[in-house]
Amino acid sequence: MDYSKEIEKRRTFAIISHPDAGKTTLTEKLLLFGGAIQVAGAVKSNKIKRSTASDFMEIEKQRGISVATSVMGFDYRGLRINLLDTPGHKDFAEDTYRTLTAVDSVILVIDSVKGVEAQTEKLMEVCRMRQTPVIVFINKMDREGKNPFELLDELEEKLNITVRPLSWPVSIGTSFKGVYNLYDRSLYLFNPGEIKLTSDGVAIDDLSNLLVDRFLGEHASQLRHDVELIDGVYPPFEQQQYLNGNVAPVFFGSAINNFGVRELLDTFVTIAPTPGPRPADSRTIAPHERDFSGFVFKIHANLDPRHRDRIAFLRVCSGKFDRNKFYHHVRLGKALRFRSPASFMAREKTLIEDAFPGDVIGLYDTGNFKIGDTLTEGETILFQGIPNFSPEFFKEVINTDPMKTKQLAKGIQQLTDEGVAQLFTQNQGNRKIIGTVGELQFDVIQYRLLHEYGASCRFNQLSFFKACWITSEDERKMEAFCRYKTELLAADKDNNLVFFAESKWRLEREMEDNPGIRFHFTSEFKIGASN
Ligand code: G4P
Repeated sequence: MDYSKEIEKRRTFAIISHPDAGKTTLTEKLLLFGGAIQVAGAVKSNKIKRSTASDFMEIEKQRGISVATSVMGFDYRGLRINLLDTPGHKDFAEDTYRTLTAVDSVILVIDSVKGVEAQTEKLMEVCRMRQTPVIVFINKMDREGKNPFELLDELEEKLNITVRPLSWPVSIGTSFKGVYNLYDRSLYLFNPGEIKLTSDGVAIDDLSNLLVDRFLGEHASQLRHDVELIDGVYPPFEQQQYLNGNVAPVFFGSAINNFGVRELLDTFVTIAPTPGPRPADSRTIAPHERDFSGFVFKIHANLDPRHRDRIAFLRVCSGKFDRNKFYHHVRLGKALRFRSPASFMAREKTLIEDAFPGDVIGLYDTGNFKIGDTLTEGETILFQGIPNFSPEFFKEVINTDPMKTKQLAKGIQQLTDEGVAQLFTQNQGNRKIIGTVGELQFDVIQYRLLHEYGASCRFNQLSFFKACWITSEDERKMEAFCRYKTELLAADKDNNLVFFAESKWRLEREMEDNPGIRFHFTSEFKIGASN
């Protein structure tokens, strides 16, 4: 079967930003334009910003009920758009990194007042690693932000990427007049207070047109000057450069005022990539292949204690997925079929009969899936790029209710399968150490162990700097290393050897002193990555 038509229709992307830059607002406006929601205020799921655990629990509870917000699908101009949600909070960055493995492109939101912030740099690093095409949306142009040229320089400098403005603001803050779309050469005027969904631009090919003066008054000459400068400094936009991840087109606007959002969406659907190939351990899987394949990049627990099931989010990479058909679970070597796979449309889950490359589907799971699992029609492949990152916070789990030992073990097992944290064990599994990329996860784990598994525990702080996976081609060297480091060694969930470094200095020393041992900072070494 040829699924080209279905594949060509799909655009799967994520919006990423530093918290507060406007990701939720922009998401909501895109859904409004896409007709997926009717009123603003429907997407409030992601506000885990002010980092208190209680806030998080509340929100997570809501998310548990409405998991649909993790993927928001809508149709726009004949295309199927799949927008994947990413948590804004830095303690959940790993979840965001994994989501980035399931998309074909990214929209990065920047706050015009704050410019490029620390978390943005990290997220961008992941995009660069994967050569994911990125469009930048500079938000909050209605506020007195930084000079747009300065912002472009900052983007290039801090994010290490070449930018190309495709729209340009006419003044900023209270005197913000609108944007000139350099892609379709039209002027879009901003009326503060007037919030409407249609923003028809005025086609203005030649900026010397007197209409520009009529619309912009004193700001007309500045715009002419700026555009001349842009055209002089920046090479013309080339879609292929963007698709290769080498150039990031930049748009300006104000999400809260719906301004610049439609232009962003219209350009996005014109230039954004269709579902691309995905690297697996033995070969690269092309979306047009006949056989179905896909991988799980996110597992969402059902926080309703009456329903212990979870939803595994699977990105379809090739072929066609069919409801009720048996598929091969590569890690377990087991055939599984799914009676009620779901697709997501804004807030609703719908039962689906089939799905195509680029789609993200929800599979009800009773404990078969771990993050990174691959499903195929029989071939033994393992998709790459869904690594665990070396954690930086470590605590030992101490059981405080001996009657619930089993529940605790099961809870920890399942939560770590979901990717909430990583589990390391010492003493043949008797000592359990949890490693995370953020402090907040420990609160989440404690809360969920108690509420979902009835198990209580406390944590013993451990002062390790990093955990890294170690391998060696030389068994003797490995043995010698292990003999002296027993206290600092543990096994991860797949029984890989992990070394806990006490400090950065110590880690560097060990790496220097043990050239025969390789230290890996993501778990991906298992499938051949070199770091
Ligand atoms: P996030 O998901 O990236 O964390 O950001 P979010 O959309 O929640 O936006 C953060 C704050 O910035 C919100 O205000 C939001 O209203 C505001 N905002 C978003 N877009 C714009 C814009 O174009 N211009 C201006 N001036 N503000 C914008 P808040 O007070 O934190 O929340 P709320 O009470 O408005 O919901």
